This record gives sequence, C-alpha cells and structure tokens, in this order.
Amino acid sequence: MDEKKVMLSGIQPSGDLHLGNYLGAIKNWVERTDEFDNYYFMADLHTITVRQNPADLRRRTLEQLAQYIACGLDPEKNTLFIQSHVHQHAELGWVLNCYTMFGELSRMTQFKDKSAKHKENINGGLFTYPCLMAADILLYQPDFVPVGEDQKQHVELTRNVAQRFNGLYGDVFKIPEPYIPKAGARIMGLTTPDSKMSKSIPDGCVFLMEKPEDIQRKFKRAITDSDTENCVRYDPANKPGVANLMSIYSAVTGKTFEEIEAEFAGCGYGKFKPAVGDAVVETLRPIREEATRILADKAYLESVYKAGAEKASYVANKTLRKVYKKVGFVAR
Ligand code: TRP
Repeated sequence: MDEKKVMLSGIQPSGDLHLGNYLGAIKNWVERTDEFDNYYFMADLHTITVRQNPADLRRRTLEQLAQYIACGLDPEKNTLFIQSHVHQHAELGWVLNCYTMFGELSRMTQFKDKSAKHKENINGGLFTYPCLMAADILLYQPDFVPVGEDQKQHVELTRNVAQRFNGLYGDVFKIPEPYIPKAGARIMGLTTPDSKMSKSIPDGCVFLMEKPEDIQRKFKRAITDSDTENCVRYDPANKPGVANLMSIYSAVTGKTFEEIEAEFAGCGYGKFKPAVGDAVVETLRPIREEATRILADKAYLESVYKAGAEKASYVANKTLRKVYKKVGFVAR
C-alpha cells in the first residue's frame, strides 16, 4: 500500500477565525483531506506567550475546533486535536530549546515584532516559541507544513534544528518542507490592502461567525483604490484593494479574474463591493450555522478532541521516545 505524505499545521486560538484563515488555510486543508495524512491542531500552548483571558481562551479553543469541522474538515479523516492535550509537544519543546542557538532565536522577525508590541511582557516563552513550534512539527515527521509567508522563517529554523539534531544522533527527524499553496494564499485586510487580514484591525477583518449585515457593511466600506478609474480590473501593483476583493470573490465563487472583469465591466465599485459581500455571506452562512450547531453539542466536540489527542499522542510518543533515547535519558 502507498503511504500517504504527512501534512501538519496549527492556528493559535488567540482570536476568532476569519476569512483570511478560511480562504488562506482551512479551505485548502479540506481540499487535501484524501491526498495526505493530516494533523491539524489548536495551538493553545503558543497563545500564552501573550497574556490571555482564561475564559476567552477556553471558549475560543472549542469554537475553533467547531469551526474547523464546520468548514468541512472531517474529524474521521483528519486528526484534529488541542495542542496542550498532547504533552509530548512541551517535552520535545524543552529538548529542542537546548539545540537552538540564542543567535538564531534573536533573528526571528516575529519575535522582534511581538516584543516591540508587548514591551511590558517580553517573556522567555515569546523568545523560545520557535522551539515549541519546531517540536509541534517534528513530532509527527511531516513531509509538508502549510504556512503563510509570516511563518516561513520558523519552518526554516525547524529544518535547521532538525538537521543539527540528525547530524549529532543519526536520522531521527524527517526534514519538512514549507508548503505554500498556489491559489488563494494571501487575503489582505479590507481597509489595509497592503497587509494581511488580521483580527487586530477589525474593520477590515471578516470573522467566520459574523452576522451577514456586519459582513456587508465591511465590504461596502472596503478600500478600493485611489485612482478615478472605477473599473474592476486585476492589477495588484496599482490597485491592491480591488485585486484583494477580486481574489476573495474568485476564491468563494470559483470564477477566474477574466470572468470577474467581464461580469463587472462598466459597473464600477458601487456594484462590485456588495456583490463580493453577498458571495462571502452565502459562503459563510452554512459554516456559521453548522459551527453553532456543533458547538451546542458538547459531548460530540469532546469525543472529537479526545480521539484526536489519542491518535496524535500515539504518533508523537514514538518520536519523543527516540529522542529521549538518543540524548541519553534512562527508559522508564
Ligand atoms: N506559529 C503559528 C502561527 O502563529 C501557529 C503554529 C504553531 C504552527 N505551531 C505550528 C503552524 C506548527 C504550523 C506548524 O500562526
């Protein structure tokens, strides 16, 4: 039998999932369900590098799981789990801390950004976070790690640490590749078309659970461009706002840019923006309804995350045992 390639990724439950998470990540995960052996998790251990409200973190972690499933990730075919339920992440994270250099961690741009943003809480975890991320990845011996542009540097570091470890102890870790999907990769903020959609700019961010009228309002206020052309044309360099709306429309309707240009020829942005809003509302409606239904079924959610943690621990434990043996810990 042909072994499937292994794919793994995670999202931090530090904010509500939004359209950028869905179109840029989760939708692609769903499409790859049958092709790969998949592990997707809620990266809750990572979120406490920044102060969290405990009740909100707990709620968002479960909501994120319900939304993964509502987006079409079938828990029978994908291993879905909560990171803190699989203790091997923290354990391998510690080991990798000792194989990652201070200088390497100092170069991480996300550390520089986050420490500039949270000056009152530049903690050790924020600094060593890439070691935990490397552990998340290497435990499952994945072939591919689908991540956005902003996480590529962490996957690079993971590869370097894995190679260093393998150089000392033999082939313990598979060296993973970052996996950047061809289409729909980067959804930008509706009010900031030059930076990616983010919960920190809520006016430009459409959340998966948002009410249709709020979604429509955000699309009507989306930035188009500063020229006076008022024409729907794909030109990301000069019309980034329009290009972003076209990418969103294309992702949710399956239409090509040429088809979209033809559909809105002579219409102007006044017609285009609400049309994109409508298409997004209709895409998100069944997801919102299904997520609400799943979230109410606590027993089902629990059965999913328990089974997920069990499957994940089994695989993670094999790698961790090997690592412990290699570094010289006594077997118990
Ligand atoms: N660091 C990622 C982010 O902030 C989330 C994450 C944690 C992750 N562990 C991972 C992504 C492992 C891919 C693989 O977006």
